[in-house]
Formats: sequence, structure tokens, C-alpha cells
Amino acid sequence: MVQTLIAGNWKMNGLKDSLSVIKEVGQTLANGASVDHATALLCVPATLVALAADASSGTPLSIGGEACHTAESGAHTGDISAEMLADAGATYLIVGHSERRADHCESNEVVAAQAAAAHRAGLTPIICVGESLAERESGATMTVVGDQLEHSLPDTAGDKNIVIAYEPVWAIGTGKVADNEQIGEVHRFIRAALVKRLGESGASTPILYGGSMKPGNAAEILSVADVNGGLIGGASLKAEDFLAIYSAA
Ligand code: PGA
Repeated sequence: MVQTLIAGNWKMNGLKDSLSVIKEVGQTLANGASVDHATALLCVPATLVALAADASSGTPLSIGGEACHTAESGAHTGDISAEMLADAGATYLIVGHSERRADHCESNEVVAAQAAAAHRAGLTPIICVGESLAERESGATMTVVGDQLEHSLPDTAGDKNIVIAYEPVWAIGTGKVADNEQIGEVHRFIRAALVKRLGESGASTPILYGGSMKPGNAAEILSVADVNGGLIGGASLKAEDFLAIYSAA
């Protein structure tokens, strides 16, 4: 069975007072809400990684970063390496989120290099793919997702060391959720591509759905074949909502 991953993505949200959310989620999981088949993860801004890792220490909650530079260290003012995030206590790293691809012009090749950097640092990369509304409407969804998958996976991808997140760009932060048929079709396509590329480990790579996942729709989305969890933006900022989605898994 593929391990389920319920991952929050705080994006550029959260000051130190948000550590109360980390503490509440971690404690609730530690007090019996955690289940073996599902991992809970919150990916937080770089400024909070070390504090969040500290606040969740001793609980089943994992902490992740949201982006990194491809180099280990050096003259890159303002950037952060995967090693720095690992050193701060992260165990996962989101790479290739559509907001990074758009805001920072990150190409598939850069995303693959970031995923390789995550591996170099001992982190599990969550590699994001997904089509825009225009691409979906023109019937290019599978071409776009297939191309992103082909070029955003690092050569180091293998057994249990990557996670894929399918996030239709038009469903992120919009309240519009892809329907079960749309989700199932793309997840099946991604599974087949992973198996073709990685063999058996492609069959056990978690594939997350992301885009307006909420407590009210999580159980239904998570019941779709080849959906092995969620990447949750807005609803991961509240402990109650994130925990409700986790419990749906
Ligand atoms: P959303 O964001 O849940 O707020 O739509 C998902 C994401 O961008 O990862």
C-alpha cells in the first residue's frame, strides 16, 4: 500500500504566533489522532522551519520547507539551500510549486535540480505539476503534465524518495476543485508515467492532489484511485481544518 501524506503548504503566511498551530497539530496527533498509514506534514516559511521543528519535536508531525536554491552554499544573497533547511529540522521540501514556477520563472530543469538538491541534503522532495486553465481548456493537460513529469524528476528519483503533487493551477486558492473524474484521470496518467520511469518504486510513489482541498471535500477526493494524500494551502493554516483533513485519510 502507498503511504498517505497529508501535507500543508503555508506559502508566505505565518509569524511566530502561528507556532501555536504547529503545537496544537503536533499534540493532537501525539495524543492519539495519528495513524500509521498516514504521515502529517506542515511545510512552512523558511523563517519558521527551525522553530516549527522545535515546537513539533517528539510528536508525529513532520516539518518541511517550501523552496530552495540548487547549490549547497555560496554567493547567492537571500537564498536558502536544502542543507540549511535540513539543518533547521525540515525532512520534506516542496519544489516546483506553480507559484514558484510563475513568480521565479523556475523551469522544469531547475525544479529537477532542486529535487536533486533535496536528495543531496537528505530531504524528500514533493515535486509539483499541474496545468493552467488555458491548457486544460485547450485539451493540453496530459501533454503539459507529462512534460513537467519527464523533466522535473531528478536522476536520483527512486525508491520512496520522492512525492508528486498534482495541482491544477486553476484550482489553487480559487475554491474551484477538480472533479473526481478529472482528478482520477490525471492521477492514473501520472501513476503510469512513474511506473514507466521508475519501475516498481513508481507504483509506491505517493501522488498528492492539491487545489482547494478542505475538510468538506477531503474524504471524497482521497477516495479517488491513485490519490495518496493532499497538498493543502489555505486550509492548513488552521489546526482544526488541517486535522479534519488528516482524519479523513
Ligand atoms: P489551496 O493551495 O489549498 O489554498 O488551493 C494548494 C497549494 O497551492 O498547494
